[in-house]
Amino acid sequence: MSPFQLTRTLAEDAMDAALRVDVLHGLTRTPKELPPKWFYDAHGSELFEEITRLPEYYPTRAEREVLIARAPEIAAATGARTLVELGSGSSEKTQHLLDALLPGLESYVPVDVSESALKGAGDALLAERPALRVHALVADFTQGIVLPPTIGPRLVAFLGGTIGNLLPEERREFLRAVRAALLPGDALLLGTDLVKDEATLVAAYDDAAGVTAAFNKNVLAVVNRELGADADPADFDHVALWDPKHEWIEMRLRARHALAVKIRELDLVVPFEAGEELRTEVSAKFRQDGVRAELTAAGFAPSRWWTDEQGRFALSLATVV
Ligand code: AVJ
Repeated sequence: MSPFQLTRTLAEDAMDAALRVDVLHGLTRTPKELPPKWFYDAHGSELFEEITRLPEYYPTRAEREVLIARAPEIAAATGARTLVELGSGSSEKTQHLLDALLPGLESYVPVDVSESALKGAGDALLAERPALRVHALVADFTQGIVLPPTIGPRLVAFLGGTIGNLLPEERREFLRAVRAALLPGDALLLGTDLVKDEATLVAAYDDAAGVTAAFNKNVLAVVNRELGADADPADFDHVALWDPKHEWIEMRLRARHALAVKIRELDLVVPFEAGEELRTEVSAKFRQDGVRAELTAAGFAPSRWWTDEQGRFALSLATVV
């Protein structure tokens, strides 16, 4: 058997159906909103990779710093023989973790909605680590989690601060679903961006080069292409703001003037008033107490908390007992 196996738990057309539902619901309600997962077509994924290299966007560098410093401790504490990574994308940062977990590690299970990202990442990893078994899963982990029958102990990694894209109630459900997919002795490694001064946070989501603005507007290109819509990105301004009550960043697209977007495949015309905003992303920021409480409520026992030197980003390790 090839050391690279790919399982699709997401029907080919399920993503398309989900996009239709999200666009129909999100653009006919007030205030308008779309879930951030629709940023990530091939172009959006490239733009996100570009964001991770921006001077203002610190989370990727901060998390990499923690991963490199702590990978040996994570390996020792978990003794993981299977590493499951949710939302693995390009698997770039994961290499540090993988290499610390080897040679005890048998399988790497990257889980992502993007089959092309999984194939690219799997090939790259295997080229340098022929002993590893890679069992990639094409799945939408916000819709429930079913893991292949790989050997334990398992370490589930959810990195990048992507959990911040979920609203509190969605986080509760998600963490419960992860817990339900695991057994005693397994562990969760969770990356969370931390609350900090507003200027630093807003700059990370409104960079001077305009890459995040292009990333934000890419959701319009996705809707245009997939659903035959006619939204003009030039009609919208990129907005990034800090919500101090919820302690999250919101990205929005603000209509520069009154306009209407026709969405042919939904037989829908979506009017925007001048200045009307469409929320495209929530990116929650965390504190240690809050992360600890959420992990505990989901049935995990938080065991370690590590941050980068500047205290910008945290990795939590939690075990299943
Ligand atoms: C991939 C969800 C962690 O929220 O910081 C980057 C996405 N949005 N710039 C984040 C994102 C705008 C990113 N996550």
